[in-house]
Amino acid sequence: MRKKFIAGNWKMNTTIDEAVALAKDVVKTMGNTSDVDIAICPPYTSLYAVSEVLKGSTVKLGAQDVHWEAKGAFTGKVSCAMLKSVGVTYVIIGHSEQRTYFHETNETVNKKVKATLAAGLLPIICVGETLEERKSGKMDAVIESHTVGAFAGISAEDALKCTIAYEPVWAIGTGETATPQQANEAHIFIRKLLVKLYGTSTAEQIRIQYGGSMKADNAKALLGQSDVDGGLIGGASLKASDFAGIVKPV
Ligand code: PGA
Repeated sequence: MRKKFIAGNWKMNTTIDEAVALAKDVVKTMGNTSDVDIAICPPYTSLYAVSEVLKGSTVKLGAQDVHWEAKGAFTGKVSCAMLKSVGVTYVIIGHSEQRTYFHETNETVNKKVKATLAAGLLPIICVGETLEERKSGKMDAVIESHTVGAFAGISAEDALKCTIAYEPVWAIGTGETATPQQANEAHIFIRKLLVKLYGTSTAEQIRIQYGGSMKADNAKALLGQSDVDGGLIGGASLKASDFAGIVKPV
C-alpha cells in the first residue's frame, strides 16, 4: 500500500510574515497527521522561517526548485546543500512553469534529480502534457519523454525515493481538472513506464501525485483512484482550511 502524499506548492506567493502565518495555520490544522504524508513548499526566502514553524510537527518542508551544481558562480541559484541546511526534505523538480518560462528541459530535470538524491533530498518530479499535446495525440509521448528523461541513470534504489507529480498543464491554475478517470489513466501509463524501467515491485512502490486545480470538492474522487497516490496542490494550498479539506478525505 502506498501512503498518500499531499504537497502544497505555494509558488511565488507569501512574504516571510505571510508564510509563517500560513505555516502556523497548517500546523494547527494538520500538524499531527500521520496517516498521510504532508509537505509545504514556500518560496526560498521563507524556507528557514517556515522550517522553524514546522519543528515538532509531521509536516515536512519542500523547495520549489534547485540548481544541480554544488556551488560557485551561478547568480540567482540555490544548491542542494543550501536547501538541506534550512531543513528541506523534498524538492519539486521540472514543474511545467519552469519548463515553460525558465528553459527547464528533460536534461536539466535529470541533473537536478541526480543532485537532489546525492544530497539525501527527495525529488518530486513533475510531468505532464499541454492541451495542444493532448489534442494532437502526443500526450503519451510527452509523458514518456518527461518520465524516462527524469529517471535516466537513476538506480531502482534511488527511484524509490522519488515521487512523480502528473500535472496536465491545461489543468494547472485554470480551475479545469482532469476527471478522476483521465488522471488515473495517465497515472497507470506512468506506472507502466516505471515497470519497464525498474520492474513491477519497484514501480508499485513509487508514489504518483496528481496536480492541477485539485481542491477539497474534487480531492476525494481523484484520490479514490487506484493509482492516484496524492496531490501537488497550488492555489488550494494557500489557505490552511482549503488545504486541510484536501487532506481530510484521504
Ligand atoms: P494548481 O497548481 O493547484 O493551482 O492548479 C498545481 C501546481 O502547479 O502544482
